[in-house]
Amino acid sequence: MTNTTYDLDNPTITTLLNRRSIRAFADETIPADVVDVLETVAQHAASSQYLNDWSAIRVTDPAVKAKLAEIGHQPYIAQAPLLYVFVLDEHRNAEIAAAKGVDVDSEAFTLNGSYRYSQAQNDAVLALHAMETAAYSLGLGCVILGSLLNDVQGLIDLLKLPKYTYPVLGLAIGRPAQDPALKPRLPKSVQIFENAYPADSGTLLNDIADFDAAVHQYYDLRNTDRPVDAFSDQIAKNAVAPMGSKTVEPIAKAQGFRLDR
Ligand SMILES: Cc1cc2nc3c(=O)[nH]c(=O)nc-3n(C[C@H](O)[C@H](O)[C@H](O)COP(=O)(O)O)c2cc1C
Repeated sequence: MTNTTYDLDNPTITTLLNRRSIRAFADETIPADVVDVLETVAQHAASSQYLNDWSAIRVTDPAVKAKLAEIGHQPYIAQAPLLYVFVLDEHRNAEIAAAKGVDVDSEAFTLNGSYRYSQAQNDAVLALHAMETAAYSLGLGCVILGSLLNDVQGLIDLLKLPKYTYPVLGLAIGRPAQDPALKPRLPKSVQIFENAYPADSGTLLNDIADFDAAVHQYYDLRNTDRPVDAFSDQIAKNAVAPMGSKTVEPIAKAQGFRLDR
């Protein structure tokens, strides 16, 4: 039997283990060949059933960037040298299917159902993550932008997103102009399980106590005057955060999705 040896210090692992969100960027344009490679990498991510059911909008117009920063309440969105909004996209596939004679208005049409919605969302996230990792491997930094979903309808209108599409996440990319600390991660005992989910949440709460203390040591560069809240406090706060217009179903329905089937 041969014993394979693995290089656990390889550049990919190092890049991934040093990844942290970057929210301040140097005022430097990203060269066209870099942009091209990042987009090609995103296209090489895995895709459910090879449906390729995602698209990305590269936002270069400063007025649109400014509007996105307003929607996200985050000024660094407007300053990002490279900015994308990833969308789950069954529009293209519906057009292709219709051109092949499929009646997309019939009950038999399922590209707009809940399964495809969630798989298309997975595709979009995987593509975004591939792009993000490639960017970090080049010494660039990124921040993922869920904040664009503060106003989903506004985002849809701004980017003219057609029927059977729904925005997933933004990705801002640029040369880092800050050097934030790595944020602690959960102990594996509470996040990675063997064979089945553990029945006893007592151990979970016990192991979270140490993690709470570690998180409370972390200083977010957005609020350097005080350490961040303990993890449990962040969760308790988020557990009752009002969702308002972030609720998916009504807007997904207006975009032609049928999440009930
Ligand atoms: C789905 C998703 C949405 C996010 N949205 C935002 C955002 O809108 N604004 C922001 O500054 N960071 C955002 N982040 C970054 C997270 O805050 C960050 O990943 C997390 O706090 C861990 O910190 P780290 O990335 O530095 O390790 C988002 C991350 C993910 C995965």
